[in-house]
Amino acid sequence: MNVEKIRQDFEILKKGIIYFDNACMTLRPNQVVEEISRYYKEFPSCSGRSNHQLAIKATEEFENARDKIRHFINAKSSDEIILTKNTTEAINIVANSFRFENGKAVVSSDREHNSNLVPWQFLEKKKGIKHIIVEPDANEEFSMQNFENALQKNKTQLVAIQHSSNIDGYILPIEKIIKVAHDFDAYVLVDAAQGAPHSKIDVKKLDVDFLAFSGHKACGPSGTGCLYGKKELLENMDPFMVGGHTVYNSTYTTAEFENVPTKFEAGLQDVAGMLGFGKACEYLEKIGLQDIEEHERKLNKIITERLSGIEGLNIIGVKDWEKKCGITSFNVKGMDIFDIAILLDNTKKIAIRAGMHCAHSWFNKHNLKGSARASLYFYNTEEEAKIFCDELEEIVKTLNK
Ligand code: ALA
Repeated sequence: MNVEKIRQDFEILKKGIIYFDNACMTLRPNQVVEEISRYYKEFPSCSGRSNHQLAIKATEEFENARDKIRHFINAKSSDEIILTKNTTEAINIVANSFRFENGKAVVSSDREHNSNLVPWQFLEKKKGIKHIIVEPDANEEFSMQNFENALQKNKTQLVAIQHSSNIDGYILPIEKIIKVAHDFDAYVLVDAAQGAPHSKIDVKKLDVDFLAFSGHKACGPSGTGCLYGKKELLENMDPFMVGGHTVYNSTYTTAEFENVPTKFEAGLQDVAGMLGFGKACEYLEKIGLQDIEEHERKLNKIITERLSGIEGLNIIGVKDWEKKCGITSFNVKGMDIFDIAILLDNTKKIAIRAGMHCAHSWFNKHNLKGSARASLYFYNTEEEAKIFCDELEEIVKTLNK
């Protein structure tokens, strides 16, 4: 992977910014920006409806984008790819459309993003399901033992679990989790918002039932995402958002629904956005997900080793960089996390995020007000990692004097 060459694709990097907020949102390469603009310049028309030439072109390109997203996660058919606004919407489709039964359980890890937590809390009230949280082991890692105990004790319909954590970058043993869940006859929904952009996901190989991820964390436009679902499962689910485009016929009192995926895609989609999302998937595949994963881990090793030597600095969550993607989350004794983020930004244009990262439940459980988080991607360099560590060390030293 030629990082210097890749960096030419990102205009904003030419301004000397060190962008370490990739878990929140990645940058977009020129190829994606140009793809969006191609739609508005060449066929700015309605996909899936009219039959003039522009509209036919828009429909073809839209479905072509869907196919690129399908290819990215190696789904069998494009019918299994429902285009959404983001991961949150994708998870809400499952929460609202899957046939949950009163008294049955949905099982999750202790470190879910709000998008894979709040929908299940809602369902406890609406449908009487039980939402079970699996406690981690002593190293904050996913405990297969506690997981099996939870499945044994509760009649579980769905395991709704993240692939990788946006809190600390920990990658869960997702293959094992899916296998064990299936042994207990539970379906599995993987929140891959933090996983799909950083490691190769193959839904066929994983045999996962549902999988969600977002465009904006994968070099794609904001407001784009998708839900993968096995076709036979999607066919058995009723849509929860209904209206335009979801039906092929209606009377004043009835409606006849389209097949999957159309029945789940209510209203006009962000056609330009989805073209950009498809292009982003293609772009990441060209770079190579394996190379991306290795590059991030190499940088994270540098950062973890340096940060571990800073007095008063505590890396939160899982500390072993070999089990993580490119995220390091930390606190510094006596220092406000927001001050750290602002100082890094003001001194060396280093963009990190401070806060609870939409995973308040985990921070509340650990009595933490949040963390400062550096999250990397394939366009970050060793040089940037070193500048970040030097500057952080300097800030901590100066403020502790
Ligand atoms: N999930 C996003 C983050 O981790 C918002 O920053």
